[in-house]
Amino acid sequence: MTERRREVRRAIFPAAGLGTRFLPVTKAQPKEMLPLVDKPTIQYGVEEAIASGLEQVIMVIGGGKRAVVDHFDRSREIELYLEQRDKRDLLEILAGVDRLSDQLDILYVQQKDPLGLGHAVWTARRLVEGEPCAVLLADDVILGGPPCLRQLMDVYARTGATVLAVRRVPADQVSRYGVIDPGPSQGRLHEVRDLVEKPQPGRAPSDLAILGRYVLTPEVFRALDRTEPGAGSEIQLTDGIRGALETGRVVALEFEGDYYDTGTIPGYLKANLAMALKRPDLREEMLGVIREFMEAPEPLRESATGPV
Ligand code: G1P
Repeated sequence: MTERRREVRRAIFPAAGLGTRFLPVTKAQPKEMLPLVDKPTIQYGVEEAIASGLEQVIMVIGGGKRAVVDHFDRSREIELYLEQRDKRDLLEILAGVDRLSDQLDILYVQQKDPLGLGHAVWTARRLVEGEPCAVLLADDVILGGPPCLRQLMDVYARTGATVLAVRRVPADQVSRYGVIDPGPSQGRLHEVRDLVEKPQPGRAPSDLAILGRYVLTPEVFRALDRTEPGAGSEIQLTDGIRGALETGRVVALEFEGDYYDTGTIPGYLKANLAMALKRPDLREEMLGVIREFMEAPEPLRESATGPV
């Protein structure tokens, strides 16, 4: 038997979701294009894939996602406009986005029905060619520290196991996530005995939630072939990984880095504020705005359409 490949070259980015939590803004705009300050969330994911040394990103997209494709393409029209006006700093920002697709290949595959995260990942199965493969959920932005996918890939290289990124979350939040039942641990690395998608309050096997980064072995794709719809009547990636536990090993790493959950409106707003405060060109002004809100006697009394 040939030795199993221990190198991860690709990442799947499921990006076919309808983004209904963000309606109406997601009616005609992919949620992956919502900005954190001035950069769409999906771009942070592609930058992480590059920093992790991956060669290929496979985006699983649905209808209405043209803007994602256009974002990673060149825009001759804007370039020309900026060239004519000699706006070099802005041209450099565009060039920075163009360089991303020179550093790895971005492929697109269509998920025709929104049948769940597990189904989206399974849709890319033929492009993965039986190799281990990373998965990145663009909603979960992880910055600082070594790139999160790289941390998982290093664990995969050592163990050959499916690897999940996990973090401890407060008890009142565990029901929003896939949650692991940990076995023996070595520091920040836990054996996974079982896992459950969105457990009922009070029934979670631990407080270790899966946060949008995975390295999947081929066993997971085989398990997804036979995974039935689960929580929310969708084919869950968590259930596919659970199926792979029958034949293979799954481990979970408490990763290093700052985690921003942009998948809910409060999380998204918080992430924008946190990132703006980290930007030297915005920090003072934003602190001023926050102070103004805090000091105003009744800042939230304005009508929704009135001045803020
Ligand atoms: C998905 C996964 C869940 C994971 C979460 C991380 O859920 O199904 O296991 O914990 O992402 O953000 P979603 O946020 O799509 O409901």
